[in-house]
Order: sequence, then structure tokens, then C-alpha cells
Amino acid sequence: MKRNAAIGLFDSGVGGLSVAVEIYRQMPAESTVYYGDTAHVPYGPRSAEELTRFTKRITDFLQGQGVKYIIAACNTSSSMCLPVLKESCKVPIIGLIEPGVKEALSKTVNGKIGVIATEATIRSGAYEHGLKKLGKDIEVYSQAAPRLVPLVETGRTDTYEVTEALREYLSPLQKAGIDTLILGCTHYPFLARQIEEELGPGVRLVDPALATVRAAKEELCRLGLAINGVSPVSHCFYVSGRPDAFRAAAVRFLKKDIGPVKQVIL
Ligand code: DGL
Repeated sequence: MKRNAAIGLFDSGVGGLSVAVEIYRQMPAESTVYYGDTAHVPYGPRSAEELTRFTKRITDFLQGQGVKYIIAACNTSSSMCLPVLKESCKVPIIGLIEPGVKEALSKTVNGKIGVIATEATIRSGAYEHGLKKLGKDIEVYSQAAPRLVPLVETGRTDTYEVTEALREYLSPLQKAGIDTLILGCTHYPFLARQIEEELGPGVRLVDPALATVRAAKEELCRLGLAINGVSPVSHCFYVSGRPDAFRAAAVRFLKKDIGPVKQVIL
């Protein structure tokens, strides 16, 4: 495996860009190959069988692009498919759940942790099991938030629909007295400001991307695969749906142009 190969990452759509941003920040010398499965977004309502089929094709594609490491930049895929993907991938692959769990446990004071995520992630119980396994006397309050992904994907982030959806999803967690909230879907960090406004200052938000990229960096260093120093970087983007829609959303969230986006149907 070549040290100067890229890091691959994937999501159902633009959500994984919140993980990409962390890679650019924490590992600025690393190149990336991003795949957004926008023809199949949202992943949240899909079955494990379907998600495994899609994500196997994506990880095969990324490996075909010569990546040295893969980040499943999607909580739904991380919670439903990671063990299968770990077996089928020839390169190391990391998901968001365990790093997110550890980060939340390090932040909570009162032991009451909320999780918002897609239906599939909540149904899998991945965060709840992880938090209860690694933490002591932890109360977990989980809430599926299915209306958020389509709103983020179509750029309707500063709308009444978002305010209304957040109010509905967050009020039971607020009533339960959580002091920490895991943003258990990579689309949600693009709503962090709106979520903070809704919850007020007493609740800490955990974006699992930060801890996941930190863990990925540590693993790459351990494996002798991290790029030291400066290096020319390239960031490539592929989607299964319409490249222009993805590009527009990416520019909106990253506040910079991302260059060409190619459509590759797997
Ligand atoms: N952004 C993904 C996640 O973290 C998938 C959201 C979806 O497509 O429903 O779960």
C-alpha cells in the first residue's frame, strides 16, 4: 500500500462532507476520494440487505481507485454494515459509531446522552449499545429524525421546516434532561447552529466526525501510511446521481468550489 494514496470516504449524499471537512482540517496533506450515493439517498429508511449491497459496491469502487484507507462517513452504513465491510475490504475501514460513543462519554457530566440519527441507525441500537457497554450508569435517549436528511440534501437548512422538525425531535430529549447530544448522522452537523439555538447552552453537541478522523489519523500513523509534512493534495468527488445538484450543495456547505464532480453508477 502506498503512503501517498488517497483516503476514500462515502455517504448517501452530501452528509459525508462534514467528515471530509475534518480530514482537510486534521490531515491537510492527505488526498481524498469521495463517493456520494445520491441516487439512493436517503439511506435511513433502507434495509440492511440493501445497504450492504450498496456499500459493498462503493467500497469496491474506492479500492479500485487505489485508496489506502476508507472512512464510512455515514452513520447508517457504520451501524448496519461495518462488520461485513471490514471482512470484504482489503484496506482498513473505520466507522463513526465507536469514536462518537467515546467522545460523548468523555463529555457528559450527568450521564444523560441523547442521540439523533436516521431510522436505520436508531433501529440498529448501535449508539445505545456502545454507550451502555463503554459507559457506566448512562441513560440514552434516542430519536429518529427522518425529515432532516432531505432538507439538508436540498439545501433547505434555514427554513421553518427545519425549525419545526428540530422542535419535534429535540423536545423529548430536552425534557429528559440530556447534557450531551450525539449528531448521529453526518448530514446533521450542517444544522449544528439551528440545533444549538433550539437546545440552548446547556447541551454539548458531539459530531462523531472529529473523533473518527482523529482515530483514522492515529491508525494511519501506526500503519506507517500517514503523509508527513506537505504534499500536493487532490480531492476527487463521485456521485451516483446528478453531479450538478451535489456540487451546488457542496459549494453551499464548504463555502468553496470543489472542482468537477463525476457521475459513476455502480
Ligand atoms: N448521512 C448518513 C448518515 O450518517 C445517511 C443519511 C441518509 O441517507 O438517510 O446516517
